[in-house]
Amino acid sequence: MRKLDFKNKWIVVTGASSGLGKALAIKLASKEGANLIITARRKERLDSLKSRIENEFSREVIVVESDLSNPDSVENLFRVSTSEKEIFGIINNAGMTDFNPADIKDYEKYEKIIEVNLKSLMRLSLMFLDYFKEKGEGAILNITSMGAFFPLVYQGAYTASKHGAQVFTEILSKENSEKNITISSFAPGGIATEMLSNSGLDKLRGSDDFFNWSAEKVAEKAITAFKKKKLLSVPGLVYKLGLILKRILPRKTLLYFLEKSYRKK
Ligand SMILES: NC(=O)c1ccc[n+]([C@@H]2O[C@H](COP(=O)([O-])OP(=O)(O)OC[C@H]3O[C@@H](n4cnc5c(N)ncnc54)[C@H](OP(=O)(O)O)[C@@H]3O)[C@@H](O)[C@H]2O)c1
Repeated sequence: MRKLDFKNKWIVVTGASSGLGKALAIKLASKEGANLIITARRKERLDSLKSRIENEFSREVIVVESDLSNPDSVENLFRVSTSEKEIFGIINNAGMTDFNPADIKDYEKYEKIIEVNLKSLMRLSLMFLDYFKEKGEGAILNITSMGAFFPLVYQGAYTASKHGAQVFTEILSKENSEKNITISSFAPGGIATEMLSNSGLDKLRGSDDFFNWSAEKVAEKAITAFKKKKLLSVPGLVYKLGLILKRILPRKTLLYFLEKSYRKK
């Protein structure tokens, strides 16, 4: 099977203002020779990433400011991207979490999490799928999480969104397997990014240890798997083994251990 080749192709990367999205953008430009449409809410960060990529790697970058919790903004991202350039691929990476016991007072936050992590990913996947069908080629990578497989206690809304994103991506891939369009998912474990420090998850196990890899290392794995057109890739032996253990353990036992391991100190 021929690998994906991103050289001189245009790739949309959501959530590129920090963490994994920023690392993906840098790797795609520096190692793969891709041109990029980068998006997030914090425009000044995107502008500085654009300058860096253009100066250091001589690739073209277009910045589109978007709030993916707003469906109009999601549609606008699709419209602007496809009217500016011929797009070859999209990486749906933007995401947010909340690390607390579920409580009705935080319901608006949960709605945002579902909008960004699940609904925008579904909408962008479907809009770009249609566009790629017309072109006869294209590639979609959806970043999910270990939370797509494990019930991460104290992150109920996040875990629900990632379970949904994972299964949606797999089904979409199967339904379109005859076409020349790659639909992949990548489910990392911990990454030392703002998501951990902003939510307080970093206080559980620190920011750069065995469980929390650097964004650069995870980005490298994600791009390698995407190029190989993997339906699902889980980086790291510890997480691969975790998935096997999950199949064996009774659900109650799994919840017991996850509650203990995610309980705030
Ligand atoms: N960190 C981990 O341990 C971990 C583990 C597994 C999976 N993941 C997944 O990896 C992906 C990237 O997360 P990260 O760890 O790199 O976190 P991060 O550093 O917090 O980055 C999240 C990105 O999403 C963007 N974003 C958040 N809300 C948005 C909104 N409403 N509209 C548009 N963009 C929005 C942020 O940009 P703005 O704030 O500028 O809008 C930022 O660029 C997420 O899908 C996450 O679920 C992370």
